[in-house]
Amino acid sequence: MTQTFHEPSPSALMLLGERRDPLSERGVDCPGDLPAASDPDLVERARAAKEALGDRVFILGHHYQRDEVIQFADVTGDSFKLARDAAARPEAEFIVFCGVHFMAESADILTGDDQAVVLPDMAAGCSMADMANINQVDDAWAQLEEAGVASRTVPVTYMNSTAAIKAFCGAHGGVVCTSSNAEVALRWAFDQVGGVDGDGKVLFLPDQHLGRNTAVLQLGMELDDCIVWDPRKPLGGNTPEAVEAARMILWKGHCSVHGRFRRAHVDRFRAEVPGINVLVHPECAHEVVTAADFVGSTEYIIKTLDAAEPGSSWVIGTELNLVRRLANAHPDKEIHFLEDTVCFCSTMNRIDLPHLVWALESLAAGEVPNRIVVDAETQRLAKVALDQMLALPALNPAKD
Ligand code: 13P
Ligand code: SF4
Repeated sequence: MTQTFHEPSPSALMLLGERRDPLSERGVDCPGDLPAASDPDLVERARAAKEALGDRVFILGHHYQRDEVIQFADVTGDSFKLARDAAARPEAEFIVFCGVHFMAESADILTGDDQAVVLPDMAAGCSMADMANINQVDDAWAQLEEAGVASRTVPVTYMNSTAAIKAFCGAHGGVVCTSSNAEVALRWAFDQVGGVDGDGKVLFLPDQHLGRNTAVLQLGMELDDCIVWDPRKPLGGNTPEAVEAARMILWKGHCSVHGRFRRAHVDRFRAEVPGINVLVHPECAHEVVTAADFVGSTEYIIKTLDAAEPGSSWVIGTELNLVRRLANAHPDKEIHFLEDTVCFCSTMNRIDLPHLVWALESLAAGEVPNRIVVDAETQRLAKVALDQMLALPALNPAKD
């Protein structure tokens, strides 16, 4: 069966390379001598620097990274797997994180003080993580205390959040979750306040979609059990009665990449390709996830495609670097991308081969560039919530 994956148009790709995302950019230029992207020796330079560093360096690559970068990763994975892998490498002096800022922060928290975590480009942030800052979350919690519900509320933060918010969760009896363990994390959280059928609540940060999708589709709650908390409005834009009645208080955040997928895209593919399987990430809106056949983390998406029958048809709703790689890896399956236009994560794409070469060569020359350091108190509290996540039972190994 021919692969029918559609490439984005070159003009859209050019625009993508040039545009900036003001919500996510940290406005940090490379502080060193960045090699030119046109340097024909970049691959060889990366290989040589990595070889010179040997076991001193361990390179982690998130599934949304570019091909040119992922080829140098010692391990690839979703956020959960990469957090575990970082924690399991105490002998590596340098952890080079090819992913985004919040992932590198988590790696710093989970690794030893003698290990340096390096993010090749400091502008590799995450617009979703930027949608919740700690002052807003502290303020929301104070309002929940005043409303008399904080003692029955457990904060749960998606991995895609700052270390300060993970520390907030650690300080308030909460937990971190990722897209591959959100169900078990939410069950654990509700167990702390009387169980899923009790009157306890979860404050879910910062991705409203992962929170809603998990509560409704995996915990069996109603959409009405969920309210959205807008940090710019008093009581998050809710009445005191609505806050009292809610089971899930969903922070008003979302992923700008997955937010582009629409129910109409699913309907169009179903109409055009009979028997097509729809596979999406749980950061997609509820209307998209409920229209899909399969929902899971990036690791789950890869495993599902690996296990798929030759000749089967798939449309995938997640970041484009990963979908394009899957299409190339499975020429015996028909693989489509759920959107019409380019859908890369622009901040993930900040990590490119010139930045990786610069980071590796700097390390080989005895300098530690772009080190991510989380302060000791934030680390201590964030580690409580991260360790709680790593200790959760694997409820659904198929999605791990
Ligand atoms: P996972 O790799 O954990 O599925 O997360 C997707 C994502 O958006 C990472 O930023
Ligand atoms: Fe953040 Fe979305 Fe990019 Fe993931 S894909 S890093 S959630 S903006």
